[in-house]
Amino acid sequence: MNVIDLRSDTVTKPSPAMWNMLRSLDNSKIGDDVLGEDPTINELEEKAAKIIGKEAALYVTSGTQGNLVSLLSHTHPGDQILVEELSHLYMNEVESATRIGGLMIRTYPSNKGVPSFEHLQEITQNNEDTNEHPITLFCTENTHNYYGGTVIKPSHLANMKKFTERNNLKLHLDGARIFNAAVALGLPVTEFTKHVDSIMFCLSKGLSCPVGSIVAGSKQFILKARKFRKMVGGGMRQAGIIASFGLVALEQEWIQRLKEDHYHAKLLAEGLRQFDFPISIPEPETNILIITFPEKVRVSKFIGGIRKEGVLAFNIDKHRVRFVTHYGITKEDIHLAIKKIGIILKAMFK
Ligand SMILES: Cc1ncc(COP(=O)(O)O)c(C=O)c1O
Repeated sequence: MNVIDLRSDTVTKPSPAMWNMLRSLDNSKIGDDVLGEDPTINELEEKAAKIIGKEAALYVTSGTQGNLVSLLSHTHPGDQILVEELSHLYMNEVESATRIGGLMIRTYPSNKGVPSFEHLQEITQNNEDTNEHPITLFCTENTHNYYGGTVIKPSHLANMKKFTERNNLKLHLDGARIFNAAVALGLPVTEFTKHVDSIMFCLSKGLSCPVGSIVAGSKQFILKARKFRKMVGGGMRQAGIIASFGLVALEQEWIQRLKEDHYHAKLLAEGLRQFDFPISIPEPETNILIITFPEKVRVSKFIGGIRKEGVLAFNIDKHRVRFVTHYGITKEDIHLAIKKIGIILKAMFK
């Protein structure tokens, strides 16, 4: 059976052009990256910094590692950091900020990632108080995974920047899917990144690389991040072999391909709405569709049912299921998935 895997954009495999890039490598194109001598990684980091509009960039093993080294580079142990309450950084990074960074996480609520600045100002008003650990960093996530791949507009990022400047904080963006945000609004990615001090973005999600993420910021920040990457075991040697895929991933044409994924997510939402079951199906902004079932429905039964039909998705909690569209999923796959999901829904709601 042809399996339509909509669990995550992390399941993507490299494109033919990426394999060609790998085949074009020889020993002259790789070296010891901990010594800064891997020409392919150096090229990738330069290319990434340019595209993202920052002075320098660093290749890291994963998004989780990229976020951690960014946090470590901006803070000191004992500092407090402001993190959105449903962010990946808070929910899914195994408390690395606390356990490795010695940081105290203060969560803030938000409307799809956009906070109330009055509330934030209340939190930071005691920042000069000697009885409290200083708050030194504010983190945001764009697109926002748990709200369903929603986009935080550049104007909101500008407000975050104003808030952080007013309060002498640094601003870190978990931009695992920042290119999805840029493509969705038809804006250059720098319209988003110009407002932040640092960004992490993933090569291994919609951009379809097998491994790796990028951290970017000022030269001074990246010097620190490079040391912290070593500290957390991320100093690799002839890593140009895996990083080479990133050179293809950062071509404009490949970035713009994300539009296809967004279109497929919309098609999926439309298709599922046609069935007219009591499920909440929002209009996806990018490549993530999160649908919400009524209280009485057992979502695990739905996930098991569609799996048997050859469609994979994740249940993100007791009531919600996440579908993610990505490279390798075609329009035909989406039509077939709708049909198969329909079979299960009909059986569940009959
Ligand atoms: C928003 C967000 N940030 C960070 C990460 C971490 O990336 P990685 O899985 O490469 O560690 C993910 C992964 O799913 C994510 O969705």
